Amino acid sequence: MVRRLRCSFCGRSEADDNRLVAGPKWVAICESCVRLAAEVALPAARPATGDLLVTGISELVTNDSRHGSRLGVIDEAALAIRRGEVAWTGPESRLPARYRNLPTIDCEGRAVIPGFVDSHTHLVFAGDRSHEFALRLQGATYLEILEAGGGIRSTVAATRASAPADLLSSTIERAGTMLEHGTTTVEIKSGYGLDLPTEIASLEVARQVGESLPIDVVVTFLGAHVMPPEFVDDRPGYLRLIEQMLPLAARSATYCDVFCDYGAFSVDEARWVLQHARRHGLKPRLHANQLGDTGGVELAVELGAVSADHLENIDESQARALAEAGVVAVLCPTASWSTRLAQAPGRLLWDIGATVALATDCNPGSSFVASMQLVIAVACLDMGLTLDQALWSATRGGALALEEPRKGRLRVGDVGDLVVLDSDNYRHLGYRPDQNLAKTVVKQGDPVVGSFARSPEPA
Ligand code: NIG
Ligand code: FE
Repeated sequence: MVRRLRCSFCGRSEADDNRLVAGPKWVAICESCVRLAAEVALPAARPATGDLLVTGISELVTNDSRHGSRLGVIDEAALAIRRGEVAWTGPESRLPARYRNLPTIDCEGRAVIPGFVDSHTHLVFAGDRSHEFALRLQGATYLEILEAGGGIRSTVAATRASAPADLLSSTIERAGTMLEHGTTTVEIKSGYGLDLPTEIASLEVARQVGESLPIDVVVTFLGAHVMPPEFVDDRPGYLRLIEQMLPLAARSATYCDVFCDYGAFSVDEARWVLQHARRHGLKPRLHANQLGDTGGVELAVELGAVSADHLENIDESQARALAEAGVVAVLCPTASWSTRLAQAPGRLLWDIGATVALATDCNPGSSFVASMQLVIAVACLDMGLTLDQALWSATRGGALALEEPRKGRLRVGDVGDLVVLDSDNYRHLGYRPDQNLAKTVVKQGDPVVGSFARSPEPA
C-alpha cells in the first residue's frame, strides 16, 4: 500500500507533528480526525448499560392493545428501559421519579415505534443481477429468467466463487443499512450455496452478522432453494445431499425453509426436506404460492409450519386455512413490486384474522430492498393495507413470525428495541416513502444509530 503523507480529511501532514493512521486501502487519517470522526459519527458510543429513559415522545406506538387500539398509541409519552427491558411506559406527566436520573433521550416531540422485525431475507449473497431487472422491464418474467438458468442460479455461481470473508463483509454492510433504517431483528436465510461448504459457510456468515452488529439475527437453512445445476438430472441425489447438510445446518439455524413452487421444489420434495429437518430440530417455514398455486399453502397447513411466505397466488379458502392453522402469513410486497407480479391479498388475510407479517425479502433478484419503511409504503400503496395494519405487521407481526413474543411490542418486560422517528407522527412512514425516518435506533436500551440529546450521566 502506498503510504500517504497527508491526512485525506484535513490535509495536514505528519511533519506538522500529527501522526497519520493508515485507513482502509489508500486513505490515511490523522489521529485528531479519527477522534473527531468518533465523536461525530458515533455519538451513540457509550458503555452499553441497557438503561435508558426516552422522553418528549409525541406518539408512542406500543403495539400493546391494552392501551385501547391494536397499535396501543400513548400520546405525550415517556418510556423507561432497565437492563435492556421495557420497565415503564405511560404519559410523561406520570413518569415515576425513580427513572428520572437514567441516561435520557429527549425526542423533542417525535414519534417512537418498536424496532422493525424483518422476518424474511436472503441477505447472504454475492454478485449483481441488475441486468435481469432490465430484462424484466423489457417484458421477460421472473420465472422465464429462472428457467433459462439465470435468476437464483446466477447468484449461486457468484456466491460459490466468493471468499467467505467477502461474503461476510458484504452481508454486514447490508445488515448495517437495515439497522440504520430501524430494523433491530432480522431473519437471514442461506440458499445461494446449494453445496455443503457454501451453504454451511452462508449460515455461519448469517450468525456472525449478529455478533458484529447490534442487530439480532435469526438463521434459516434454505438449502432447498432451487435445484443446483449439477443435480438437475438427479433430484434424489440433491435431496440426499440436503440430508447430509441438515445436522450441520442445525448448529447455527433455527428454521428450515423450502422454495415450493414452479421452477423449484415439488410438494413431495418439500415435505421430505421439512420432515427430515424437523428430526434435527429445525422448524418448518415455506416459500409458498409465490409464482403459482402449486400446493405450498396446503403443505404449510399440513405440517403446522411457523409461517407461509409470499402467498401471491392464494384464494379466500386458502387464506382461511392459514388463519385457522395459526400459520403466520409473511408477505413481501416489494418482491411483487420489483418483479411486477400480483400482490398477495394482504387485506383479505387481515380481514379474516390471519396473523400477517411484512418483510423485505431482501435478495439480489426479486427485491433488493433493505428498508422496512419502504415495505410499509408499498404494502399501503400497492397491497391495500392500512397504515396501522402495515406498521403492526412490520413490527409485531414480524416478531410473531419469528416466535419472538417479547419483540415488536413495547410493554413492560418486552425487549427495549425501538426507533425514534424524525417526525411527530408515525403516519409519515407511508406518506414520505423516500425518507429514512429512523433518527435514532435503540437496541436493548442502548442507542446504536443516530444522534440524540442526552442528559449527563448521574454522578
Ligand atoms: O423470495 N422465491 C425465491 N427466492 C427469492 C428470490 C431469490 C432470487 O431471485 O435470488 C424470493 O423472492
Ligand atoms: Fe424469499
